[in-house]
Amino acid sequence: MVKLQTSLPELVTDPATIRALTQEAREQGKTIGLVPTMGALHDGHLSLVKASTEQCDLTVVTIFINPTQFTDKNDWTEYPRDLQSDMEKLAGGEVSLVFAPTAEDIYPHGHVTSIHIGPLEKIVEGRCRPGHFSGVATVLAKLFQMIPADTAFFGRKDYQQLKVVERLVQDLNVPIKVHGCPTIRDEDGLALSSRNVFLSQEQRQQALSIPKALKLAERRIEEGETDARAIVAGMRSELSCSGALHIDYALLADAETLKPVTTIQGPTVALIAVRVGSTRLIDNEVMMPQR
Ligand code: PAF
Repeated sequence: MVKLQTSLPELVTDPATIRALTQEAREQGKTIGLVPTMGALHDGHLSLVKASTEQCDLTVVTIFINPTQFTDKNDWTEYPRDLQSDMEKLAGGEVSLVFAPTAEDIYPHGHVTSIHIGPLEKIVEGRCRPGHFSGVATVLAKLFQMIPADTAFFGRKDYQQLKVVERLVQDLNVPIKVHGCPTIRDEDGLALSSRNVFLSQEQRQQALSIPKALKLAERRIEEGETDARAIVAGMRSELSCSGALHIDYALLADAETLKPVTTIQGPTVALIAVRVGSTRLIDNEVMMPQR
């Protein structure tokens, strides 16, 4: 009988050790891919890991449920945590290191410095979650200091986060390439998210109006519609179908600045955030108008 080897990656919890190990790999000429996560890993995260292992010699996955990016303390407390199961999902030898520090390691006593990303942190998702993107940018700036990666991998599902990271590395001259990976969806179209586990079967059915609303926007733009208000009205009506979703926002924005658009002229992103019961879901799709 063949015995399967499922070697777990090396788990590091302390910032000095992760810096030493990654620095050493760099000195040996190895390229480093960084996949920052908050754990509760699903196939969406694993697609980032795959992109990293394909492009880089060594892949580091960070697992840290960053308290400073949660506007609601309960949301942070209730965020799914299972390090052992996450480690098992990363088994098999492709991921070299998992960095899972404690909050005290990342934010030692007396910590006061934080990063702000200007208007980008205050619009769309930032308006609903004040301080969220500052928390994201702060923790990533710290991880980028601790892990001298060549490329960092992020999902396009968190579209505004991706734009924030791109801004951060550009503005702070961080020598790390930011790679945005496609959103992974279940067969029914729902984007994978660590929060999907909180949905009942009925809520999951109701949540399917999110990808449907995005598809509708895509179709209208393909058909040549340029009036954003008309498209958004269609999206909102799709989202309202079940009567069970609370729409935080459904809008069309410039794909680069995320400023809302009234006429579709260039690359446009449809952005949606809804609450299904107490679970908040976000999704997006980038579209090009017909010329
Ligand atoms: O997308 C996430 O999981 C988090 O926002 C990130 C990028 C790991 C920062 O805490």
